[in-house]
This record gives sequence, structure tokens and C-alpha cells, in this order.
Amino acid sequence: MKSIQVGLLGIGTVGTGTFNVLKRNQEEIKRRAGRGIEITMVADLDLARARAIVGPDVTVVDDARQVIANPDIDIVVELIGGYGIAKSLVLQAIAAGKHVVTANKALLAVHGTEIFAAASAKGVMVAFEAAVAGGIPIIKALREGLSANRIQWIAGIINGTTNFILSEMREKGLDFGVVLKEAQRLGYAEADPSFDIEGVDAAHKATIMSAIAFGIPVQFDKAYVEGITRLEATDIRYAEQLGYRIKLLGITKRAEMGIELRVHPSLIPAKRLIANVEGAMNAVVVNGDAVGTTLYYGKGAGSEPTASAVIADLVDVARLHTADPLNRVPHLAFQPDAMSKLPVLPMSEVVTSYYLRLRVADQAGVLAKVTGILADANISIDAVLQREADEVGGEGATSTDLIILTHEAREGTMNDALIRLQDLPTVLAPIVRIRKEELS
Ligand code: HSE
Repeated sequence: MKSIQVGLLGIGTVGTGTFNVLKRNQEEIKRRAGRGIEITMVADLDLARARAIVGPDVTVVDDARQVIANPDIDIVVELIGGYGIAKSLVLQAIAAGKHVVTANKALLAVHGTEIFAAASAKGVMVAFEAAVAGGIPIIKALREGLSANRIQWIAGIINGTTNFILSEMREKGLDFGVVLKEAQRLGYAEADPSFDIEGVDAAHKATIMSAIAFGIPVQFDKAYVEGITRLEATDIRYAEQLGYRIKLLGITKRAEMGIELRVHPSLIPAKRLIANVEGAMNAVVVNGDAVGTTLYYGKGAGSEPTASAVIADLVDVARLHTADPLNRVPHLAFQPDAMSKLPVLPMSEVVTSYYLRLRVADQAGVLAKVTGILADANISIDAVLQREADEVGGEGATSTDLIILTHEAREGTMNDALIRLQDLPTVLAPIVRIRKEELS
């Protein structure tokens, strides 16, 4: 049978990996797909570089529209990234009747509804395994492997850059800014790393997982997003003393009134497997009612790990493109006419537990006032840690750190309590609040 012909839009790190792995493993891939899969056309603005990667047998152009217009191309792989030109090219490819494989989480998290609707109307597939957690087949697991389950929650370390930064901060006791510079020097973080460190990249990925897990539309605009830029080494150290690690988690959870969708630093018990995921690695924990808790671990970025996911999608499309579109796996796991109307909850309605650090005057009655305010708000305390003043501020210091772990409370209730706590004259600095997840 004739090989499936693939056109690549963009041949950077992931495109190069895709080209090389497809070539290296072509026989193995053919045995799986039932026919060959070949990249026959590449569009990239850097023609010379692209030619050097793919050699003379592949057509190289600098205009992506030529790939889309080529009637011999069956699948368009979009590896440009971002919401701009990539969106228009993906929609053009769909309109031209091409199947699309993309690693573009930003595009799908923000414009997924429009893109999937266009693809369904045209009877083509949009596959996106590489968009979440790189080489980890988490989309496949959620969409197919766990399809018996009512998913309860997902919590993932889904941004390698921030996990590298947090690991270094913990292991070396360094502050955020110092480690960020090191991450940039090593090439983990971009020169403009804001999408990583502000939690946006993780929120794109959490948004996509949330849609697939609960059968809701992608709703990035409803996600709560908080990055790691304000984290201090002090809190990582205190967390450790209390038996916790701090990780940037993407969390989505089924709650009574809706779906939680949030990215923020979280304390998690150090004994959990996911707490021990270090460096640039990714891991996702999924809890389903039948299967219980499952963990998926691997490289969330990089040339060949991400290519592994792109090629898995190419194999899927090669196998399924002749199937009746209605019998294919739905883009978001649930049939488009059976989507849930459950709302994504505002952050004030989220229920979680908390780590609080208060810099307080070292005086009699301070602890009683603090615990009194929490008791008024019906927020139950789980643990308290108070350091000697001179341990925190040096000899003769008159203030100290009071660390409180709470049981679960509604975020809105905690916000109100924090305003009252901050107003106490004996609370001397802005209170640090970090959410805590037991993941049990
Ligand atoms: N910037 C991402 C990360 C890589 O650091 O994990 C791909 O999503």
C-alpha cells in the first residue's frame, strides 16, 4: 500500500526529532501502522537549515500554504506553535481536508472548540498527543485507556522548566532568580520564560486534560493560573521540615458544583511518588473511580520524546483515516453531542488545604489571635510550626515565622480570613499562602 504522506510545518527541535525517528524506525512503524509513513514536504522559513536536516528527497518550501495546497499530502503536522499564524494554518489545513497533528497546547487550550468543530464538520482528525507532557502518552491514557472510569481528579507536573527550578531551589537552597538564570544558561528556560514560570504553559496543558477527563469544552480563560515567581527558598525549607515538597501542579478535579481547573505551587506529601519527580521530568497522576490512582512519568519536552508522541498520532491517523468519522475516537474523548455543561468553578469556590507563613512579632498572645481568626472562619488547623526568633532573624530578633497547615477550606473563606490576619498589628509582613494537596 502507498505510504501516508506527511507535510511538516516547521522543522525546529520537535520537527527534526520527528523526521529522524520516522526515518530510523520506519520498518517498525510500518509494521504497526500497516503502511509506511513518510515526510515528503517541509515548510520552514530557514530553507537552508531545513534542507540540511531532510536531505534532497524531501521538498522544502518557505510557504506553509504550499504544503496545505499539495493534494498528495494526507497529514499536516503543525509544529510552529503559538496562537497566531499556527491557528490560521491549522484551519486552512482542515478546510483543505487534511488531517492535522499538532503539539500546540496554547492553540488548542484557547481555540480548541473552534478547531475541533471545524475538523468534525470536515470529517478530519486533529491529533495532539504531543501537546501535553511531551513523550508521556497521557492523552491516549485519558481518552482511551481510562474510558471505563468516572475520572475524579488529575494532578500533574506538566512543565519541566519550573520543575527543574523548584528542584534546584530545594536541593541547593537557592532563591528563584538565581536558579532561573541557571535554567536559562542550560537552555531549559527560554530567554523569555514567562509562559513557563507564570504557569501559563502548565495551564494550557491542564485545560486540555480537563476537557478530556470530564467531557467539557476547553476553557483556558476559566483556569486559575499562578506561577512560581514569588516562591521563596524559606518556604521550600519549611515545607520540607513538615514532610512536604513544593511543586507547580496543574490540577483539575470534579467537585459537587463543577470542575476545578487550576495551576499553582502546591505542597504535596514528600512520600508521594510524584513529589519525587525531579529536574525537567514530568508526571501526571490520574484518579478514576474504577482504576484508583495511576501515575504516568517521563520526559515532557525535547526533540525525540516529543517526536514519539507526534509519531504515535501519525500512526493513529494512518490506521483510522479510512474509518467512518463517527466511529473514530472523539477529539475530546466524549461524543460532541454528549458534552457536559458542568461549569469551571471560580477559584473562590475551590476547596483545598493551605500552608500559611506569617512573620509575627514574638509576643505573648500572638498565636491566640491568629488561631482565633481561623477558628472564627471555621478553618481547622492541622499543624503549627514556630521557630525561635533568633533562629529566624539572628540574635536579639523580635519577630519570628509562624507556619500553619490547615485542613480543607473554601478558598473564598480563606481569602477573607487572610485579610483579617494581615490586619493584625502583630503580623509584620505580607502573609505567604501556598495551597496544599494530599493527593490521596
Ligand atoms: N516549556 C515546556 C516545559 C516544554 O518546560 O515543560 C514543552 O511544553
